[in-house]
Amino acid sequence: MIKKCLFPAAGYGTRFLPATKSMPKEMLPVVDKPLIQYGVEEAMEAGMNNIGIVTGRGKRALADHFDVSYELEHQISGTDKEGLLKDIRRILEECTFSYTRQREMKGLGHAILTGETLIGREPFGVVLADDLCVGDELGVLSQMAKIYEKYRCSVVAIEEVPRDEVHKYGVIAGSELEDGVYVISKMVEKPSAEDAPSNLAIIGRYILTPDIFDVIRNTPPGRNGEIQITDALQTQATRNMVLAYRFKGRRFDCGSVEGFVGATNFFFERWKAARG
Ligand code: UTP
Repeated sequence: MIKKCLFPAAGYGTRFLPATKSMPKEMLPVVDKPLIQYGVEEAMEAGMNNIGIVTGRGKRALADHFDVSYELEHQISGTDKEGLLKDIRRILEECTFSYTRQREMKGLGHAILTGETLIGREPFGVVLADDLCVGDELGVLSQMAKIYEKYRCSVVAIEEVPRDEVHKYGVIAGSELEDGVYVISKMVEKPSAEDAPSNLAIIGRYILTPDIFDVIRNTPPGRNGEIQITDALQTQATRNMVLAYRFKGRRFDCGSVEGFVGATNFFFERWKAARG
């Protein structure tokens, strides 16, 4: 069973300026919860209760969110507002949180390597909290954990995207092993529509085996001069099997304004339904 989940959260969130000038992108609220809390709840559901967060400058609000606020607890104790803290209290009771800082933003691959100190030598989940995922029955990480249990190799979540959007993603080529599960033969980071091997795009959920750290260490900077996890996974795929899994559910790209508004509308409907 996978116990640890890493949240790379050191990026600048430039697509959401000026909102992200002094506030981490991961703290943007969708209805009444910050993005990162949705991700942590998804990890918890998959049994990954040891949460590691890779932070950077200006990200202290993340650590404060996952800690007790004594003044606040005192203020609302015994009032009808206590219920609003129910979910976060459960998270604090059931999860551990560890942090490390990425000092230079050298890309997602580098951020994951920075998290090695929190992970050690065991398989682990990775959540990019700005991809907000809603699983059909099970959460996306729970679905992926099942694939991992069966095949014991790295697994990336994929989604079909329109051809004119492939340039925003890592894109895979592969052969289908079972329904929705592909053995990856090739991965390309942000290809043009003409060069893309398919329209199956990698989204922000991964399960990685710990040998990935040595692979990343030996991966030179790629696209945009950043150390790309896609390049490291391509190397891993040539040595061991790496699987792509077409998850059941939907995803909102909350790093973009359109995706964020889509998620807000979706969760607002849920929020209304929950209140009758
Ligand atoms: P993004 O590509 O979304 O970059 O990173 P970003 O900086 O967060 O946002 P934009 O594009 O400037 O608007 C994908 C994920 O990888 C993390 C980010 O925090 C985000 O969760 N990341 C990226 C790091 O932790 N470190 C990096 O050096 C790069």
